[in-house]
Amino acid sequence: MEPGDGVQCGKAPDTSAGSLNFQHPPPTQKDRRDFSQAVEVVRVVLSDMASVEHLSTSSGAPPAVEQTTGAATAAREQHVDPLNVSGAIDEQGNVLAFDYEALRQKFDTALIDESLRQRFERVTGKKLHRLIRRGHFFSHRDLDKILDCYERGDTFFIYTGRGPSSDSMHLGHAIPFLFTKELQDIFDVPVVIMLTDDEKFQFRGAKEGRDLGEFLDYAYSNAKDIIAMGFDLKKTFIYSDVEFFGGHYMQNVTEFETLLTNNQVRGAMGFDGRYVNILSPEPATSIGMNSYPAKQCVAAFASSYPELFGAPDFCRPRPRSKGNFEKRPRKEIAAIPCLIPCAIDQDPYFRLVRDNCHRMKAPSPKPALIHAKFLTALQGPGGKMSASDPTSAIFMSDTQKQIEKKINKYAFSGGRATKEEHEKYGGNPDVDVAYDYLTYFLEDDEELAQIRESYKAGTLSTGNLKKKCIAELQKFVGGFQERRNEATDDVLDKFMTPRKMEYAGNPHPIKVEEAVVQQNGETTEEKPDRNGKRERKLEKLEQKKREKELEKLALRNRDEKSGES
Ligand code: TYM
Repeated sequence: MEPGDGVQCGKAPDTSAGSLNFQHPPPTQKDRRDFSQAVEVVRVVLSDMASVEHLSTSSGAPPAVEQTTGAATAAREQHVDPLNVSGAIDEQGNVLAFDYEALRQKFDTALIDESLRQRFERVTGKKLHRLIRRGHFFSHRDLDKILDCYERGDTFFIYTGRGPSSDSMHLGHAIPFLFTKELQDIFDVPVVIMLTDDEKFQFRGAKEGRDLGEFLDYAYSNAKDIIAMGFDLKKTFIYSDVEFFGGHYMQNVTEFETLLTNNQVRGAMGFDGRYVNILSPEPATSIGMNSYPAKQCVAAFASSYPELFGAPDFCRPRPRSKGNFEKRPRKEIAAIPCLIPCAIDQDPYFRLVRDNCHRMKAPSPKPALIHAKFLTALQGPGGKMSASDPTSAIFMSDTQKQIEKKINKYAFSGGRATKEEHEKYGGNPDVDVAYDYLTYFLEDDEELAQIRESYKAGTLSTGNLKKKCIAELQKFVGGFQERRNEATDDVLDKFMTPRKMEYAGNPHPIKVEEAVVQQNGETTEEKPDRNGKRERKLEKLEQKKREKELEKLALRNRDEKSGES
């Protein structure tokens, strides 16, 4: 998601510069300057709106994101796509907490329920990480298939990414990486991390008249942040799009682009044709915006990185003579499954992959996904941290003092207005940001439960709750910063060099027959082979359905075209 694009909190002004009326002929230098200034004004307004101080002595009633001006705004539903994330707004203009169940149903993803959690623990033999235990990773696509894969001892890889839009990541960005690192430890598989400097330039930099190089710099700096999350060099590859594209990756992009229609991309990304670019300020969706998604999609194909799996890439064949390169398709590498941890805003990209991956010459399986909720902005539920608003977020570069100040000053509290009231009626942990952050970072379940109960009972004050939260965040960010200092240019270079990954996967794979028995907890009549057949049949039916839909779409497009001419 593009920080600053989505209205994170506060009332929603029309930020579409489409309303700035540029005249033909093409803009003069002055037009561009005016436009830049207008963008800056909008940015400042948004930032002011988000930085309105929130009442650390509030009554404990939601909504956490208190609104700015008096005038009521039209109520609006929540909206989540990769470019815009905004909570619903009620008639009084209050931003409401995200309704994740509604979102899950809308996106048609599966809930991570108790039985899947238990299976995860059983298959991996490890205690569930607190982020999944406490429902912060709440939804998935085909996670069960990845567990099957691990159980059998088959290879798969994990892919995630970051759009480098500023020098330092915030605490919200750290969540998927914290969890991905945990998954790497659990599964012992390769992790691929994409830094989308091209995406951030396309969707943000161009709009603000900034240089592409700026985003490459952010990519390097964010890569060091990511390394500091503790990834294992032997099985982690990090790349900047601008630097890495070429070879098999680019071949996959080129082929995949032929499979995606503008309509599909527009639907997934929520383009409304009002995007304005500083260099060409007529409202439009640039072709760069349209073509970017294919790049984020094919990153989920193992065949984009054959070198990580021990096969050569052909990027720079020596000598450069005809046919002297590793030719595609590499079916066996393409068939390696992929698991993508991310917050739910990134899901639309991967719906595009899942709908089309079977149509590649060397098809890849549908990538599995595991989705996180958003770590809320300091201002409370319904807001999302924004890299462009320092008061909305704790940054991984914040000092211990800054963390203390931000939590004390900005973290929305579910405590009561006075000490007496708090002791009498108790606080509301469900809207309290300090408590919410503790659910992410405090490991001890019993201690957390005790904090929750005593806060509700009014025996734990807001001040003391915040103190506990500050201590946990300082520990997490402090540890991160120590590791960040060790991420030198040399270390960065190693992580960003494509090379064969060293991983072992499941040390105790079990035979498929055993897997079926263990899954059901008892011996089953059903032969695993029959299972496989049924799956293939379903897969074929689904494929036919998709082909039919595509045919219909093609016919509709043809009719529309003939109507136009
Ligand atoms: P970006 O840079 O917006 O976000 C990086 C990752 O952080 C997640 N995220 C959050 N998670 C929890 N709480 C928050 N407040 C929060 N804000 C952001 C995002 O969902 C993402 O997982 N286009 C992507 C870059 C990308 C990518 C990927 C991300 C490329 N390939 C594959 C995930 C998986 C982007 O701009 O992410």
